[in-house]
Amino acid sequence: MAKSITHNREQWQSKWGFILASAGSAVGLGNFWRFSYLVGMNGGAAFVLVYLASVLVIGVPLMIAEFLLGKLTGLSIVSAFRKISGNRKLWVALGLIGVVASFVTLGYYAVIGGWVVGYLGQSLSGNLPRDPATADAAFRIFSTTPALQIVWYTLFSWIVATIVSRGVRAGIEKYNRILMLMFLMLLTGMAIYALTLPGAREALSFMFKFDASKITPLVTLLAVGHTFFSLSLGAGIMIAYGSYLPKKITLPFASIVISVIDVIVALLAGLVIFSIVFSFGLFPDSGTGIAFVTLPPLFAVMPGGTWLATIFFFMLAAAAITSAVSILEVVAVYLMDEWKVSRQVSTWGSAIAIYLFGLIWTANDITLVDKIAGGYLLVLGALAVALLVGWVVPLSNLAKLLQTKATHPVLRGFYFLNRYLIPITLVWLLLSGTF
Ligand code: PFF
Repeated sequence: MAKSITHNREQWQSKWGFILASAGSAVGLGNFWRFSYLVGMNGGAAFVLVYLASVLVIGVPLMIAEFLLGKLTGLSIVSAFRKISGNRKLWVALGLIGVVASFVTLGYYAVIGGWVVGYLGQSLSGNLPRDPATADAAFRIFSTTPALQIVWYTLFSWIVATIVSRGVRAGIEKYNRILMLMFLMLLTGMAIYALTLPGAREALSFMFKFDASKITPLVTLLAVGHTFFSLSLGAGIMIAYGSYLPKKITLPFASIVISVIDVIVALLAGLVIFSIVFSFGLFPDSGTGIAFVTLPPLFAVMPGGTWLATIFFFMLAAAAITSAVSILEVVAVYLMDEWKVSRQVSTWGSAIAIYLFGLIWTANDITLVDKIAGGYLLVLGALAVALLVGWVVPLSNLAKLLQTKATHPVLRGFYFLNRYLIPITLVWLLLSGTF
């Protein structure tokens, strides 16, 4: 299947370009609103600790597994599953879960991306609401009135599609490099500033003062569940990015670097948000509302707040764009690999379809769709990846790709995790329905 396309497949220009693009996918809105409200509502440091463990034991091995599948086949999720399973229908269907998850997730992710761009515009014009009640009312009206969002949503979607339409090197890699480097610099600056705020101490102790009694099964499930969304696993993104890899690359190293960047960004973002929120005696548990309801009035009354708000929303927009790019790439490359359509046709075709579908979320609450697509479907996709690598791909192939011996203890550990521990944990997660 798709032999000729595999043959001419684009490749990343450099190792760091690939690492930044993958980190750009992982670092996104999830690091800001999802991570901070999960920490806020689930015991602070207890959640952080379980999350770190989950990234290490489940996230990193799964990321390596996704990269391996992409590199092994030189194909994206559905075609890769087809090739490895010998064209078995069940596996093709499982691969399609990733494409569906990406399609649906991007629909609402781009709507939130539109809100971010809209708030960036408001910050630039110095028009942020000055008190919580106004902020709350303004957000409620904005987020349920399509006419108010349409310009921002269209702009966000257009930027994302334009980047993807330019291809792997001239689009995805180039813009990730620019946006991610700017993002990391601005976030570091903002985190240093946050440390000077009166609420910094409270923020640090909230995030790092560990209380073992707060680790409950629920906290564990939520922390494990967040791993997939945050590291962009289960949707086939890292399979697609892995399929553009040149021969020589150490995947475990790359996966660890990407995961460490993602975790550090989440912690720094938490530090920034909690420091500001605690400085005003508030509590960071308002979910999606943190960025759009809790923070704007605080920015409006802080010294230099207009600047801070502008930087904050610019960072958020950059992070959202690089993630949305990776999600669109899954759908676009699926059409290219399976249906042999050109990049232009596949990108603009899928972007327009997703855009039209996403309009639903300019008028409706995203909680349910986030739970289904960003929760269930990603976990199902991740389960399929672990089972494929743990049970279908021969260990000797994995060893060859990782340039090591089949008896190497680290490879054995990786194999064990994908064969047993990860699938069992994921089934537990699916049965519990906690996302
Ligand atoms: N990892 C990104 C974030 O944390 O915002 C977004 C994301 C990408 C979520 C891909 C889900 C997904 F399938």
